[in-house]
Amino acid sequence: MFTVIGKPKATIHRDIEALAGQYDDVVIDGPPRVYDVTRSVAAACDIVVIPVQPSPYDVWAAKEIVDLVQEAMHFKENLQTFFLISRKVSNTAIGRDVKDALAGYPIPLLEVSIGHRIAFAESAGHGQTVLETLPKGAAAKEIRGLAQSLRKRYGKESVVRHKTRA
Ligand SMILES: Nc1ncnc2c1ncn2[C@@H]1O[C@H](COP(=O)(O)OP(=O)(O)OP(=O)(O)O)[C@@H](O)[C@H]1O
Ligand SMILES: [Mg+2]
Repeated sequence: MFTVIGKPKATIHRDIEALAGQYDDVVIDGPPRVYDVTRSVAAACDIVVIPVQPSPYDVWAAKEIVDLVQEAMHFKENLQTFFLISRKVSNTAIGRDVKDALAGYPIPLLEVSIGHRIAFAESAGHGQTVLETLPKGAAAKEIRGLAQSLRKRYGKESVVRHKTRA
């Protein structure tokens, strides 16, 4: 479905143009903590998405990356940054609390979220994504919704509609 390369180097912001050349979209999976590579990734991106699980530990841990992204915004005016709630369990108090806690950061929360779903691990076990194993399932729907939400933010909404139909 897509090409994957490993490039854990702090030169991604310089290399991205040549790497991205022939693709519509590039997704960079950042490292878990803030290192030079993360700084380079932020400089390479149009949109930074910070996934946060509904737990105070994740909310506290986000501070480090929020600081880094804000630093990147100083020299990259058009950089957009969002929180994304991931592994959400519907209708729990902690789910509501995490929204309140994130409101303390100067970064908006995406309107879509990703639920805690076994389908993600199961599809990975088959070397596939949920779009392949359960294309009509709730997990695939969430992923398509996330893609659409992000593309909307840099004017590519129509492309997503086209691809979703295909
Ligand atoms: N939405 C979800 N529902 C259920 N399980 C999930 C979900 N997202 C992630 N997981 C599980 O959590 C584990 C860690 O996921 P993942 O590797 O995506 O996290 P990560 O934050 O990128 O970790 P790392 O910091 O190591 O890169 C995996 O076992 C994965 O299957
Ligand atoms: Mg990871």
